[in-house]
Amino acid sequence: MTVLPTALDTNSPEYASNRAAMAEKLAELETEHAKALAGGGEKYVARHRGRGKLPARERIELLVDPDTPFLELSPLAAWGSDYAVGASLVTGIGVIEGVECLITANDPTVRGGASNPWTLKKALRANEIAFANRLPCVSLVESGGADLPSQKEIFIPGGALFRDITRLSAAQIPTVAVVFGNSTAGGAYVPGMSDHTVMIKEQSKVFLGGPPLVKMATGEESDDESLGGAEMHARTSGLADHFAVDEHDAIRQARRIVARLNWRKAHPDPGPAEPPKYDEDELLGIVPDDLKAPFDPREVIARLVDGSDFDAFKPLYGTSLVTGWARLHGYPVGILANAQGVLFSEESQKAAQFIQLANQRDIPLLFLHNTTGYMVGKEYEQGGIIKHGAMMINAVANSRVPHLSVLMGASYGAGHYGMCGRAYDPRFLFAWPSSKSAVMGPQQLAGVLSIVARASAAAKGQPYDDEADAGLRAMVEQQIEAESLPVFLSGRLYDDGVIDPRDTRTVLGMCLSAIHTAPVEGARGGFGVFRM
Ligand code: COA
Repeated sequence: MTVLPTALDTNSPEYASNRAAMAEKLAELETEHAKALAGGGEKYVARHRGRGKLPARERIELLVDPDTPFLELSPLAAWGSDYAVGASLVTGIGVIEGVECLITANDPTVRGGASNPWTLKKALRANEIAFANRLPCVSLVESGGADLPSQKEIFIPGGALFRDITRLSAAQIPTVAVVFGNSTAGGAYVPGMSDHTVMIKEQSKVFLGGPPLVKMATGEESDDESLGGAEMHARTSGLADHFAVDEHDAIRQARRIVARLNWRKAHPDPGPAEPPKYDEDELLGIVPDDLKAPFDPREVIARLVDGSDFDAFKPLYGTSLVTGWARLHGYPVGILANAQGVLFSEESQKAAQFIQLANQRDIPLLFLHNTTGYMVGKEYEQGGIIKHGAMMINAVANSRVPHLSVLMGASYGAGHYGMCGRAYDPRFLFAWPSSKSAVMGPQQLAGVLSIVARASAAAKGQPYDDEADAGLRAMVEQQIEAESLPVFLSGRLYDDGVIDPRDTRTVLGMCLSAIHTAPVEGARGGFGVFRM
C-alpha cells in the first residue's frame, strides 16, 4: 500500500480560518436547501396534507428501501430565477428492492406541480443520468402540466420528456409511472409512454382534456372520474396496469414492480471497502477562503479514497497536476487534481497520457478542480500551450470511461473544460460551497474590460473617464463574483448539486455504484488527432 502522508496541521490558524469560512458557506447553503424542502410553503403544504396526500419527499422516502440514502440531485434548480427553488420537481437516485433507480417526483405544492423552464431542464438532466448509467426510472406524477405563462419556453423543447421515456424503454431501461393526482394533457403521456403504470382510486386524473375542455371542444358533459379516473383506466381504457386503493398501496405496488424487473447490474458490488486513514471532517479546513492561496489536493485525496492509498503517476513531472490511481468504495478510479492552480504544457500532456491509460484499463476518472486555467504569456504560447491544452481537451472529450467532477476551488477558463466541466458530460458533477467557476476571475475580467474600453476610447481620440472606470470595474467585479458562486451555477443546472465536502466520499461512492449499473468501457482508439 502507498498510504498518503498528511501535513495538515489542524491546530494551525490557517486551518481554523479555512474551517470557519467553510462553516459560514455551509450555513448559507443550508438556508437555500431549506427553501427547496419547504416546497410551495406552509399554506400549500397544509392544504395538500389536508387532502390526505403525502408531500413529494415523503412519497420517495416510502418508495426507497428502509434506512437507505436518497441522493437528491439539483435541489437548487431555479435558484435566482422567478421560480421556486427546486423547480417544483424532486430528482435523485435511490434503492428500491435492492435496485438503484432514478426517481423523480413532482412537487404539487409548488404551483400545482406545473413544469417551468427549470423543471424541464432538471427533468431532462434526470433522463440523461438514467440513460448514461442505465438506471430504471420511477416517476411519481402529480402535475398541472406546463406552467402556462411560460409555455413558450417549454412547450416545444418539452416534447423531449415523452420522447425520452420511450427511448429509455427501447434501450431496455424500465420506466414506471405512479400517478398520484393530476396528469393531464401532455402529462398524460408520462403514464402513456411508460412500461408500467400505477393509478390511485379517486386520486389519479389522467386525460388529454379535462371536463371543461371537453365541453368546449365537443359539447359533451363529463366528469373527472369517467374521463380519467383510476377505476376507468384500470377497467376500461387499460392505461392503468395496477389499481391502488391509496398512496401507500400505490408505493407498495411500485416496489413490487421493481422487485419483478429481473434487473441485473453490469458490474457486481465490490463489497466493503477500507475507510480513509484520515478524518473526512478535516476536509472542511483544507480549501482557503481566498482561492488565490494554493492547497495540496493530496490532502483531499487522502480523505476520500480507500485506505488513503494512492499510487501517483508521474509525480515529478508537471507537478501542478496530481494524477494517480486509487479505489473509492472499492471501485477503481484514476484521479486528476489541480495542485498549484495553473495548467502548463507538461500538466496538459501528462493529463492526456493519463486519460488514455484509464481508457485502456476501463477505469473511471475523478477530476478534482482547483484551476485558474491554462498558462498565458509569450514563453508559454511559444512553448505550445494551445496545442498541449488541446491535447488534454481532446483526451477528455473523447474518453469513454465514466467521469466524475468535483469543483473544490477555482474552475476558471478552459481549465474548466480540460478538467471535464459540465459541457464535457461528466456522469456527475458536484460543487463544494468553496468553489467558483467563470470564464476568468472577477478582478481579471473587470480589468480586461477596462483595458479594452480604454484602448477603444484612445482609438476614437476620446478622453477616458478614470472615475467612471473605477465604478464600472467594481460593479463588474461584483456581478461576476455573484455569477461565479456555486449556488447561482447550481440554480442554472450547471452541476448536479452543491455538497458538503464531508459528504464527498459517500456521494461519489453512490455515483460510482450507480455508474456500474451500465458496462464501464474505455475508448478503443477514437480520440481526435493529437497535435504534437
Ligand atoms: N400553470 C401555471 N400555474 C398553475 C398551473 C399551470 N399549469 N396549474 C396550477 N397553477 C397555479 C394555480 O394558478 C394556483 O396559483 P395560486 O395559488 O397563485 O392561485 C396554484 O398553482 C395552485 O393551483 P390550484 O388550482 O389551487 O391547486 P389544486 O391542487 O387545487 O389543483 C391542478 C392543481 C393542477 C389540478 C389545477 O391547478 C389545474 O387543473 N391546473 C391546470 C392544468 C392544465 O390544464 N394544465 C395544462 C397542461 S399542458
